[in-house]
Amino acid sequence: MVRYKKNDVIFRQGDVGDCAYIIESGQILIYLTKDDNEIPLSLIGPGEIFGEMALLDNQNRSASARALEETVLNMVNREQVLERVNSSDTIVQLLMRVLLKRIRNQNMKMLAPKKESSLYDLTEWASSPDQKAIDKIKLEIRIKEAFANKEFRLYYQPIIDLKTRQIVGAEALLRWESPKEVIPPIVFIDLLENSSMMIPVGEWIIEQACIDLKEFHKCHPKFVSSINISARQILAPNFLDYIESLTKKYSLSPSCLKLEMTERIMMEGVLAIEMLKKCHNLGYPISIDDFGTGFSSLQYISQMPIDDIKIDRSFVMKITQDLKTQAIVETLLFMARSLNLNVISEGIENQDEMNWLKSKGSQYGQGWLFSKAIPRNDLITKMKTNLII
Ligand code: CMP
Ligand code: MG
Repeated sequence: MVRYKKNDVIFRQGDVGDCAYIIESGQILIYLTKDDNEIPLSLIGPGEIFGEMALLDNQNRSASARALEETVLNMVNREQVLERVNSSDTIVQLLMRVLLKRIRNQNMKMLAPKKESSLYDLTEWASSPDQKAIDKIKLEIRIKEAFANKEFRLYYQPIIDLKTRQIVGAEALLRWESPKEVIPPIVFIDLLENSSMMIPVGEWIIEQACIDLKEFHKCHPKFVSSINISARQILAPNFLDYIESLTKKYSLSPSCLKLEMTERIMMEGVLAIEMLKKCHNLGYPISIDDFGTGFSSLQYISQMPIDDIKIDRSFVMKITQDLKTQAIVETLLFMARSLNLNVISEGIENQDEMNWLKSKGSQYGQGWLFSKAIPRNDLITKMKTNLII
């Protein structure tokens, strides 16, 4: 904490700034100086923060600050502020920069002759749009429109029993087919999962998966569909009611709707884990996706109601050449066996990979060797003709 006496200047407009201040007690005047005159901007007191702008946009102090009475301040350093800002959503960062620029421009306008200041506005703004953040906002808008225009489809990638080579189920995967082009999942899935659109789109996915499952059951009564569930979805207050109402509506047993989640779900804390337990108690199987690539705490495996783990394709693609990968996967398979978990290996692309995984105890597989993700009717044809490998 630092103490200032009445009339002490804390910093002047144009100074280099390396900390912000929270007022503990006292009063601060924020002001500009023009031709030896003071232009007051703001009078602030306990609990308020100032001097943050220079930290956020790395420019000089946009105004001066002076104590109007005996004042005590807490200093907040640059790292404390920036580590939080830098880890925040890029759109929030963009909005923050826009607002800072507006304040700086307004301050400048008060100081500069009128004509120059309006020119400054335009050139400043034109020189610094953050293309990435703007593209992200535009993509979010497109996702919303695409959903309204019914441009999303569910494709299915079969899951194979490696011993019998029969299809036992499939993973439902979201595809975006706009009238102009097919937009690859890598472009939009992450953004979707982190936006509020995940809730309506997620609900559509579950309902469509139920409708399709009825069709799959006509040729394969034990078919299980796996749907990817994001943390945002499972934490939505009506998730359980929603999924329950759908399985009832379509007279499906919960046991044929598997919920796939990445390890990241464990980082959401107790609430997410409670939700998983409730889903499991109602009979929905739980699968851990991309196993071994994310939040690698083995602690949760013993606490969680997990039915199977999916070995990520990044392991599978190296499995026939890399000894270290082999050792890791063998350990995972051993652990899964001891804990009574099924293992599905993802991204199997050739016979050698399949043979290795099968011989080490992976019961199920998924990958281009068997099939890419395909539309529902193509999968039904495949099942009818038994055309797998
Ligand atoms: P900074 O630019 O680091 O230093 C001056 C501080 O004054 C600034 O951060 C803000 O905290 C504050 N400030 C700048 N302009 C205004 C304004 N127009 N109104 C209120 N406070 C301001
Ligand atoms: Mg998945």
